[in-house]
Amino acid sequence: MGIKLIKMSVIYFAIGVLLGYYMSISHSHDLAPVHAHINLLGWTALTLAGIIYHIFPDLSRNKLGIGHFWLHSFGLPIMMGSLFALITTKNDAWVLGTAIGATLTVLGVLFFCYNVFRNLK
Ligand code: HEM
Ligand code: HEM
Repeated sequence: MGIKLIKMSVIYFAIGVLLGYYMSISHSHDLAPVHAHINLLGWTALTLAGIIYHIFPDLSRNKLGIGHFWLHSFGLPIMMGSLFALITTKNDAWVLGTAIGATLTVLGVLFFCYNVFRNLK
């Protein structure tokens, strides 16, 4: 699971820097929140989680670890895709998708935090 998360994180890294590059050359910073969270919750957070799961594999085998994996894997693309659509279309209907994605992601991160706090020996 650690390796899978690290591989996933470099996809976010590529998308994140491409978006930063696009914003720099277009002088349009509207998508900065999408760029910031793809880089921070996608690249940095998932790389760190992946390294932690790889070093301490027991953490990746319990329900909290598996729960974190799926919640983060589904929540973040839903949150980022909806936020992207919200900013580009200015259609408030996308707020719901952003909120659902954010809730799943936050829950996943809380599972991870509790897992590390409770089970890391
Ligand atoms: C070549 C790669 C990158 C480019 C060209 C780039 C470009 C940008 C641009 C143009 C902005 C908008 C600045 C503004 O509106 O004031 C921005 C914001 C931001 N970037 Fe990047 N970025 C890159 C990589 C990264 C990476 C790797 C991270 C994090 C790991 C990151 C984190 C952020 C954050 C957190 C913000 C929001 C800052 C704020 O709210 O003041 N960026 N970036
Ligand atoms: C699911 C969890 C998260 C949610 C729901 C969330 C939500 C938000 C919101 C609503 C904003 C304000 C955006 C705006 O003013 O346009 C924001 C800004 C920001 N957040 Fe988060 N955040 C989350 C996690 C994180 C994490 C883990 C980090 C850092 C590791 C982070 C770093 C930032 C930064 C740097 C900004 C300023 C970006 C900008 O100005 O565009 N966030 N976040």
